[in-house]
Amino acid sequence: MIVVGAGIIGCSVARELARRKLRVLVLDRQEPGKEASWAAAGMLTPAAESAEALPLVHLARASFALYNEFVRQVEQTTGRTIDYRRDGALEVFFGEGAEERRAAWMALFRDSAFQPKPLDAVELRRMEPALAADAAAGALLTDEGAVDNRQLSAAVAEAAQREGAELRTGVEVARIDCESGRTKGIETRQGRISAKHVVMAAGSYSTQIRGAERYAPTIPARGQMVALRPASRSFGMPVRRVVRGPAYLVPRADGRLLVGATVEYAGFEKAVTPGGIGRLLTDAVRMIPELAAAPIVETWSGLRPDTPDHLPVLGPVDVEGLWFATGHFRNGILLAPATARALGEWITEGKTSLPVEPFSAMRFANRAQTVAR
Ligand code: GLY
Repeated sequence: MIVVGAGIIGCSVARELARRKLRVLVLDRQEPGKEASWAAAGMLTPAAESAEALPLVHLARASFALYNEFVRQVEQTTGRTIDYRRDGALEVFFGEGAEERRAAWMALFRDSAFQPKPLDAVELRRMEPALAADAAAGALLTDEGAVDNRQLSAAVAEAAQREGAELRTGVEVARIDCESGRTKGIETRQGRISAKHVVMAAGSYSTQIRGAERYAPTIPARGQMVALRPASRSFGMPVRRVVRGPAYLVPRADGRLLVGATVEYAGFEKAVTPGGIGRLLTDAVRMIPELAAAPIVETWSGLRPDTPDHLPVLGPVDVEGLWFATGHFRNGILLAPATARALGEWITEGKTSLPVEPFSAMRFANRAQTVAR
């Protein structure tokens, strides 16, 4: 069994398969967890971040429900401690028309199980005293949290190996090897590796692997990020939990405050730009004015694996033994436990109990065939 990609998705799948007693080899071009898994902010947001993410809600809720156990097991296996919190998130609307904008945002959740709790300006300030004076309307989402994705990705990679998976880095996979509708293995720049099953978890790089692109036409969506180290006298960290407004703010236990993120289609160029970082800083100070004095400690960008319908690509295809677990776009950190569970069940039991119907790994290949006819 080969897993292509050692990001949080590939390593979570590898760990799950190793726990199910399969022999697993994970391949990556570089060190594990150094692409989108490293660049993320680690928000755990099962309520959709936008209307186009609504089809994800059931799977996202299922994954959030698995998260406590997932983190606990990974910590136990590795002896590492992971910065992980489930203390909710605040959505905040500033200035004129704040209440109307909140009403439009709340309408997103009308048919879902989420019941954001509306908050007025006084309640908002009681929860987050450092908010700008014109924070006029908000809502609390209680079932949310955040995890230090860099810590978690490294720990999951180690946990997968401790469970028995082998990890090989510096290996560039060029092609999926199939014959008569069956997977035979993969071809790397260094040679062939045989396997009856191959799981593609290569994120944005899926389109660079021949045989994967028709199922997973991923598109890199660059996200620029900034980390601040606020030195607030009276409150310590100026926000107590994840706060979302024009930007999102994610506090870390180590004293950093992450500010994210742009969504840009700039190919594979991982740059930070004055326009991108400038906008994030302006938005952060607009939300929490005292951040104007906070030292900037890091800027970076990463490539989210987006897809044409912005939804992940999960499960089997029309080539026996070939599986997909990619295209998680803005939700890879959150969806790692459910993706791993789904792939584990599919591969060892033939079906999965998780709500994965909208994410069929055949949907893009089927559409391409229909267009060609
Ligand atoms: N989920 C946050 C982001 O993609 O920026």
